[in-house]
Amino acid sequence: MRRSYMFGGAFVVLFIAIIVIIVVCVSSKNGWKKQNPDEPEFWEKGAVYQVYPRSFSDSDKDGTGDLMGVVDHLDYLKELGVVTVWISPIFESPMKDFGYDISNYTTIDRIFGTMNDFEVLVTETHRNGLKLVLDFVPNHTSNQHEWFIKSESKEGNYTDYYVWAEAKGFDENNTAIPPNNWMSEFGGSAWEWSDTRGEFYYHQFLVEQPDLNYRSEHVKEEMKVSGRSKIRKKKNQSCILEDMLSNIQSQKYISRQRLLPFCKIIVSFALQDLGIDEPTDSDNPALLQHIFTTNQPETFQVLREWRELVDKYHEKVLMVEVYSEVEDVMRYYGNDSVSLAHFPFNFFMLEALNNRSTLTGYDIKDTISLWLDNMPEGKWPNWVLGNHDNGRVASRLGKDMVDALNMVVLLLPGTPLTYNGEEIGMEDTFISWEDTKDPEGCRWGRDHYQEHSRDPERTPMQWNGGYMAGFTNGDNTWLPINPDYEEINVALQKNATHSHLKFYQHVTKIRQEETFKKGEITFPTYDDSTFSFIRSLEGYPSYLAVVNIATVNRTVNMHLGANFPLPNEGEIVICSSTSEAKETPNGSMVSLDSLALMAGEGILLKLPEK
Ligand code: NOJ
Ligand code: MG
Repeated sequence: MRRSYMFGGAFVVLFIAIIVIIVVCVSSKNGWKKQNPDEPEFWEKGAVYQVYPRSFSDSDKDGTGDLMGVVDHLDYLKELGVVTVWISPIFESPMKDFGYDISNYTTIDRIFGTMNDFEVLVTETHRNGLKLVLDFVPNHTSNQHEWFIKSESKEGNYTDYYVWAEAKGFDENNTAIPPNNWMSEFGGSAWEWSDTRGEFYYHQFLVEQPDLNYRSEHVKEEMKVSGRSKIRKKKNQSCILEDMLSNIQSQKYISRQRLLPFCKIIVSFALQDLGIDEPTDSDNPALLQHIFTTNQPETFQVLREWRELVDKYHEKVLMVEVYSEVEDVMRYYGNDSVSLAHFPFNFFMLEALNNRSTLTGYDIKDTISLWLDNMPEGKWPNWVLGNHDNGRVASRLGKDMVDALNMVVLLLPGTPLTYNGEEIGMEDTFISWEDTKDPEGCRWGRDHYQEHSRDPERTPMQWNGGYMAGFTNGDNTWLPINPDYEEINVALQKNATHSHLKFYQHVTKIRQEETFKKGEITFPTYDDSTFSFIRSLEGYPSYLAVVNIATVNRTVNMHLGANFPLPNEGEIVICSSTSEAKETPNGSMVSLDSLALMAGEGILLKLPEK
C-alpha cells in the first residue's frame, strides 16, 4: 500500500496520463546513448547507497544509530560495491521529522555524535575509496532555529526570513482565518498562527518546519552566498552551503549535497487559493493543484546560483528531490546552456514498482522510457527503487523480486540509488500504534496510521541474528527490530552460497563492464509478465536482462513478439534464483526460445557476437 505523502491520487492520475503520451514517442528514439564518453564522474560510476543514520548502526548504546556506527560498517559498503554514501540529515535538530527539521546547519546533532566523529566519518569514507554525500534541507528549518525565533519577533533582517501573511480575517470566536486554502503535505492547513507576531507562517510540512522565504535576499545569501556579496560582508556571518563545501574540502575531504525538497522552496507571491481536483476529500493535500506552491520560476534561478557555487569545487554532485510531473522534473536538469542539478531524483520507478498484482512488463518498460525519452540531451539518468519515505521492495512487490529489481536498476544506464537494507531484502516491520514515531503516521491516528506511517521502512538494519540484530549493544532501539532478523541479516547472507547480498555484490561487479557504463539500451521483449532489456556497445559484448514478473515459474519464448531479431541462445551470467537444483548454472548456454524463469526471477545473459 502506498504510504508516502508524495504520491496522492492527483499525482497518480497525472502519471498515467503522461505514460500514455510517452509511449507514442518511444519508438521514435533509438534507446539511450551516453553523450559524453569521457571519464565518468564519481557519481556516474556506481550506486549511491542511502544511509538513514538513526537506523544504520548504533555505536554508543543509546538505541539510535550514529556516525561512528556508520564508520564501523564502511568496509561493508566498500565490499558491497557501491560508490557513493549519501547520509540523511545529521545536523542539530529537535527531531520532529527525524532530522529533516534542522535547528542549526553547522553543528552535528548530539544523537549522531560530534564534529570530530563527522571528521572521522569523512576521512574513513575516503580511505575506503567511497564518496560521501550530505543531505541539505533548504526548504524549511526547524521552528527552534534561531532565525525563526528572531523572525517571529521581527528582529531586523530576520523579519522576512520566513513566509509570513496576515490573517484573512477573524471568525466569530476571534480565531484567525488562514490567508488561503494551501495545505501541508502532512495534512491540515499549511498556515500556522503565531501569537507572538500576530501573523500566519507557512509550513509545507510540519508546523515545526516553517518554510524559508527565498524572496528575501538575506535568506538566499545565508543559504548559499558567493562569498563576496555585500550582505555577507556586512553581516560577516557564515553561509551554509559554501561553508559546508569549503570546510570539508579544505581538509581534502569530499563533500556533496542533496537538496530537498527543492521544487517547493519558493511559493507564489500572490497567495491565491489553489484549485481542488476533488472537493469532497478536503483533507488530502495531493488533490490540490499545486500551481502556486511548486516549480515556481524563481526556484530555477536559486538552483542555478547554487550550481554555480558548487561548480567551484571538484568532486561534487547536486541531486535534488522533486516530486512533479515528468516535464517539470526534467527542468531541474537545466539544458544545453544552463546546468542546474546533476540530476533530480527519478521517483517514477519507485512509484511504478508498487503493486505486483497489477505490474506488467509494459509498465516497467514505459517507466524507464518515461525518463530516458524526456531527459534533456547529454544528461545522466538515475533510478530510485526505495527510500526512507516508501515501503520496502520486498513488501511492495514480494521477496522473490528483490534481486531481479536490484539487477535492473544496477544495470540500467545511469546511477542506481539503494536504500540501506534493500541489498539484503529487508521487509517492512509491523509497528504498533504505541510504538509509532513518524509524525506523518501519528497525525492519522490509531485507525489509519498504518496507511501513512514511514516507520516500517525505517527500522534498524539487520546485521546479524544475535543480540538486537547486531544494531546496538544497548537495551532498546528507537524503533522495534523486525522479528524476521534471524532469517534476514547481513551475516547470514555473507556466509550463504546464494543470497540477496551475494547477488547484489555480484551485479555491482558486472556493472563495471564497459557495456554497462556507456552502452545503449533497447527493449526486445515485454508483455504482461515479462520485462527485458539489452545493453550493447560497439566492440564489447551485449547483455540481455530478463525478468519474470509473474508469481509462478514460466518458460518464456523471447522471440515471440520481439521488437527486433534476437540470437537463438545466450550464456547465463547470473540469475537471481537461489535454487541449488537449478539445471542451468551460470555459464550455461540456454535457448532464448524456451528460457526457464522462476517466479520473480531475473536473469542476465551474455549474447553471442553477431
Ligand atoms: C523530504 C524527506 O525525504 C522526508 O522524509 C521529509 O519528511 C520531508 N522532506 C519534509 O522534511
Ligand atoms: Mg547511538
